[in-house]
Amino acid sequence: MSTVVTGIAELVTNEPGLGDGLLGVVADAAVVVDGGAIAWVGPARWAPDADARVDVGGRAVLPGFVDSHSHLVFAGDRAAEFEARMAGTPYDGGGIASTVAATRAAPDDALRAALARLVREMRAQGTTTVEVKSGYGLTVAEEARALRLAGEVTTETTFLGAHVVPPEYTGRPDDYVDLVTGPMLAACAPLARWIDVFCEPASPHAFDGDAARAVLTAGRNAGLELRVHANQLSAGPGVRLAVELGAASADHCTHLTDADVDALAGGGTVATLLPGVEFATRSPYPDARRLLDAGVPVALATDCNPGSCFTSSMPFCIALAVREMRMTPAEAVRAATAGGAAALRRTDVGRVAVGARADLVVLDAPSYRHLAYRPGVPLARSLEP
Ligand code: NIG
Ligand code: FE
Repeated sequence: MSTVVTGIAELVTNEPGLGDGLLGVVADAAVVVDGGAIAWVGPARWAPDADARVDVGGRAVLPGFVDSHSHLVFAGDRAAEFEARMAGTPYDGGGIASTVAATRAAPDDALRAALARLVREMRAQGTTTVEVKSGYGLTVAEEARALRLAGEVTTETTFLGAHVVPPEYTGRPDDYVDLVTGPMLAACAPLARWIDVFCEPASPHAFDGDAARAVLTAGRNAGLELRVHANQLSAGPGVRLAVELGAASADHCTHLTDADVDALAGGGTVATLLPGVEFATRSPYPDARRLLDAGVPVALATDCNPGSCFTSSMPFCIALAVREMRMTPAEAVRAATAGGAAALRRTDVGRVAVGARADLVVLDAPSYRHLAYRPGVPLARSLEP
């Protein structure tokens, strides 16, 4: 059954050939959806007939947000850690251990219910594609369990056994890397599309460049594609490693040298910025303008997790990107849609074009600009014709 969506004051397609500017905006537009895919896009006056009609009443319609970085399989709460950070305690990843303990102690059903709640929360704010990482289990069985649960809500599952060195391996990081690249990878590779590593020599809990290289190389040999937590707390080796190994995305990119920016500009790796983390850790924001001006492909994602940033809201990240990182509203919206799709190497999401998935978001506003103009207001919802 086909449905024509009309009354679209402003349609963001992300296809410059279809409309105006970076976002390929079509005014007074219509979209025909058929069998979960987009069958027609264009000015409303040319719209073909369809079996059903939905009139959105002069609102803006966008591709659903693609949240390409989240950690949603966990139990417990770190509100006290957040409160301490707001009073000046710096973030170094040390709190991850408390989430690992709570997650290991939680039954499957509790983790599944908490995960489903967060995915519902995201969807209610316009996110239609989400990547979900493991990384709060850190044993063979617990990482596999997290990935099985993640696989119930998304195909974009990421094995993050190398999140931090768990307490039982304190002082023996090399032994833990052997576990991650050996039996843990063997159990988790069939359950994941991606492998990730928290490459951060400045954190006593995370992994240096050599360990990160070992993890990523083993993952690639096991058939996984690569993404990297890179340069979050310091200008470490993560970004250049990500580019060298052909990772789809280098995430955080908060502390960059000129060599990092050059590598990103010359390679095929997307820089994924997570400004909710800087907000929630009271840290300086990444220099988005430097990346955009160098021609680096940029994505925005939430990094939703109980520690460094517990927001599920892509609109909030868009508002931060505009206000705090000086991205234009169009750049921020593009990064939250097409940028996220590129970071996940997907061409079927992040755009409104014939053949793409019919993942549409409607704003309770006439223009995409309102996402930043009206911060904190729940304007976006996914449209299910
Ligand atoms: O992306 N940096 C490492 N991992 C997460 C935080 C996880 C946590 O603090 O629980 C991040 O910021
Ligand atoms: Fe993260």
